[in-house]
Amino acid sequence: MKVIICKNYDEISKEAFKVMKEYLKPGKVLGLATGSSPVGLYKEMIKDYEENGTSYKDIKTFNLDEYVGLPVDHSESYYTFMHENLFNHIDIKEENIHIPSGLGDLEEGCRAYDQMIDECPVDIQLLGIGSNGHIGFNEPGTPFELGTHVTDLKESTRKDNARFFDPLGEEVPTQACTMGLATIMKAKNILLVANGENKAKAIKGLLEGPVTIDCPASILQNHPSVTVVIDEAAGKLLEKEY
Ligand code: F6R
Repeated sequence: MKVIICKNYDEISKEAFKVMKEYLKPGKVLGLATGSSPVGLYKEMIKDYEENGTSYKDIKTFNLDEYVGLPVDHSESYYTFMHENLFNHIDIKEENIHIPSGLGDLEEGCRAYDQMIDECPVDIQLLGIGSNGHIGFNEPGTPFELGTHVTDLKESTRKDNARFFDPLGEEVPTQACTMGLATIMKAKNILLVANGENKAKAIKGLLEGPVTIDCPASILQNHPSVTVVIDEAAGKLLEKEY
């Protein structure tokens, strides 16, 4: 794995953009993530679109996950997040955007999602990481071989995400549809971004721990092309030199 350690969030976003830029070309398929970690990278992508005219007309995207039970127009749905933070600001076509559906026949939706990804393999999958080592919503204990599936969210994850739902007087949903670890591992390249001390344990597990379902991100040690872009705080438990 290639590891880039940055001074701050701004530098993470710029370094991650340098990696992503290679894939902002017609015909490419991007795997995207929500959460606070990739927002700066999305800002860089929007700036590049505005300043350099990089077009997304022939780019397809597949998002990692979506909460179960939230209508797409809910302010905290990942559909809304992606439109507000990226899609509304670039020239991507709506029909090229794919986000798992948290409504309707969930099992069938998950199966169809994996089929679409098999037909359009992801060139680069962007990931954040949970403080418990989850990627997508593959919580500790998730079998490595699962494809897209419905999962229960751990209390720690619901707590991490309560900051978005509390102001609405709502509870964090208890389930999500997520690409499985097997789906994520099929991507040709992986780009993981993380910042802050609360990610340090997860980053240690990802890079230096054993490959174990207790730290789902550790499976990335078995992937041939991973770039990890973090700040010093997230890297503070690392023992090796990068
Ligand atoms: C988001 C996702 C999650 C987040 C992770 C980190 O689509 O699948 O795995 O990447 O929870 O979230 P932030 O970046 O908000 O710390």
